[in-house]
Amino acid sequence: MTLAIAGASYRYAGTARDVLEDVHLEIRPGRVVGLVGPNEAGKSTLCLVASGMAPASIGGRLQGSVTIDGEETRDLKPHELAQRCGVLFQNPTTQLSGTAVTVYEELAFGPRNLGLPLPEIVERVAWALAALGIEALAAKDPARLSGGQAQLVALASVLALRPAYLVLDEPTSQLDPQGTRLVGEALARLAGETGTGILLVEHKTELLAAMADEVAVLDAGRVVETGPADVILSDPALSELGVEAPALFRLRRAMTAAGLDPALLPGSAPGSSGAAVPAASSGAAVRAGGATAGGATVVAGSGAPTGADGRATVVGEPAAPPGASDRPGGGGGRA
Ligand SMILES: Nc1ncnc2c1ncn2[C@@H]1O[C@H](COP(=O)(O)OP(=O)(O)O)[C@@H](O)[C@H]1O
Ligand SMILES: [Mg+2]
Repeated sequence: MTLAIAGASYRYAGTARDVLEDVHLEIRPGRVVGLVGPNEAGKSTLCLVASGMAPASIGGRLQGSVTIDGEETRDLKPHELAQRCGVLFQNPTTQLSGTAVTVYEELAFGPRNLGLPLPEIVERVAWALAALGIEALAAKDPARLSGGQAQLVALASVLALRPAYLVLDEPTSQLDPQGTRLVGEALARLAGETGTGILLVEHKTELLAAMADEVAVLDAGRVVETGPADVILSDPALSELGVEAPALFRLRRAMTAAGLDPALLPGSAPGSSGAAVPAASSGAAVRAGGATAGGATVVAGSGAPTGADGRATVVGEPAAPPGASDRPGGGGGRA
């Protein structure tokens, strides 16, 4: 039981270059695998390949193998794929059905298409709304949501399909810290309680430090590093790839470089789960001259991509993200 990518190379239709090269990655049930890397590394493409959408839905050429619980994705029909692997893309609005007049119906859309009995549809919609604390959005028009709300609704509609695996491409890009934490907690719960295997592309390494089991680093279409989240995220080499380490890791490095004892810092991880972060895991050797880590006065989650990307809809992490202020705190009814 695994979503397994083995020796996968992929090129888009009409192009002459592999965007992914010889990628190996495994997402086991109940595990959260974070994926980081610079802009244009191929993270979104890997989401397409992992979920079976490439090449089945968008064409292109895939070499190697992508299997979900032993079956090649290329042999699965779209509705079979949808039940096994849910996928959320960077731009949530493209993922709404466009036919539902309320968020409630939007969430019911997928389960209805699966032909589920009504009580189960109702149960799943209620569960997905509650999982992300968006009960108060149920009666809203999906076309009138803020960016952050649309992102939560799009994620909820994927959750309502209850897939065995989830592939999420920057699901918190339009969320404020509170919304981000909520999504992180919901995903961690999902993995822990229902055994969902999750591939999570995320620039906010604080979130990955708090809830990912493993992290893979993608650079120029290749997985250049993979291992336990705390080890990978504390590797100083990450910053050379434009991936910013979690603030606490950087702070520890800076303190060590300054001759201070990092143990003076509070022992909890950045983010909310309180997961312990080792003070100096193996990958975290402090370099000479590591005072550059003095960038550690850092605002949490400033790891927005720096390269130009005309296509992608990555939203950095604005101080006041769209939808931050009007996202409901949850718990409200939908009357
Ligand atoms: N539809 C497409 N057709 C051709 N090339 C594409 C397409 N989408 C992405 N690419 C190229 O694939 C490479 C990886 O892009 P992408 O997967 O979006 O990277 P990331 O998500 O890491 O920023 C880039 O060079 C990009 O230009
Ligand atoms: Mg991308």
